[in-house]
Amino acid sequence: EWSMENYIEIEIEKIRNEVGDRKVLCALSGGVDSSVVAVLIHKAIGDQLTCMFVDHGLLRKGEAESVMKTFADGFNMNVIKIDAQDRFLSKLKGISDPEQKRKIIGNEFIYVFDDEAKRLEGFDFLAQGTLYTDIIESGTATAQTIKSHHNVGGLPEDMEFTLIEPLNTLFKDEVRALGSELGIPDDIVWRQPFPGPGLGIRVLGEITDEKLEIVRESDWILREEIKKAGLDRDIWQYFTVLPDIRSVGVMGDARTYDYAIGIRAVTSIDGMTSDWARIPWDVLEKISVRLVNEVNSINRVLYDVTSKPPSTIEWE
Ligand code: XMP
Repeated sequence: EWSMENYIEIEIEKIRNEVGDRKVLCALSGGVDSSVVAVLIHKAIGDQLTCMFVDHGLLRKGEAESVMKTFADGFNMNVIKIDAQDRFLSKLKGISDPEQKRKIIGNEFIYVFDDEAKRLEGFDFLAQGTLYTDIIESGTATAQTIKSHHNVGGLPEDMEFTLIEPLNTLFKDEVRALGSELGIPDDIVWRQPFPGPGLGIRVLGEITDEKLEIVRESDWILREEIKKAGLDRDIWQYFTVLPDIRSVGVMGDARTYDYAIGIRAVTSIDGMTSDWARIPWDVLEKISVRLVNEVNSINRVLYDVTSKPPSTIEWE
């Protein structure tokens, strides 16, 4: 009889048989898929697993700390945190084209991973959180690329790992159920999608420290208020974006000339299409007031009311 418990037992047995006494490397992003893979493999082979978590400086507020706390402290796993903020940000300096930004971030991920893997040595396996849907999609991907997506997929050719993909027969809802069964906290199991290029594609145009700070702080406030309003499981994805515009406002009796911040919130099943979320006006009002009062350099708040298509979910 099929049950999640049985499934875990069977998968653990498979992983143990395949890996033996060798070592596995896993790129941990803190997203649902890589988290579930990491915990499952850790349950099977313990310290023979090492996870790499890359902080590219484009993460949300509190994200790196929370990943380390959950996996290194909570699950007692070997997690290497790579502080690559300077590397990414210096490569992105002066770049404002969205596709170029995406390519730079995607490539840099691979270089950072490669450098670190070379330094570590002795790993035969690479674990990935590939889902059943990822396989189907890449098998039928004939449509033109709208945006270059990047996840760990294109590894350098001289990297000789055997892939372990224990989720490749599962759908997203099954991965969440598996995650819960493995004891992964709800805030990870139910985490909203977060793109690989991170806040880098939510600061429109050139990325600067000041702009990253604005997006990071405003995103934090939005997340807090959506959670407080009990909407965090109804809205599929919600975040702020910083368009590259400033406008005139008045604060006290002084004129301001500051940034406008955009709120993007969508309902969706799979991210392929989406509708804009109808956040109640009183919740929007609270968010708006907090954004202007608490985030430096913001004097205007915009609400994105377009579906996908014709828009995409992210603005870049
Ligand atoms: P778009 O903007 O194309 O986004 O409508 C659809 C969904 O995909 C996420 N997204 C990404 N996820 N790497 C990812 O892993 C990426 O490069 C990437 N770009 C967009 C986006 O957040 C949304 O959930």
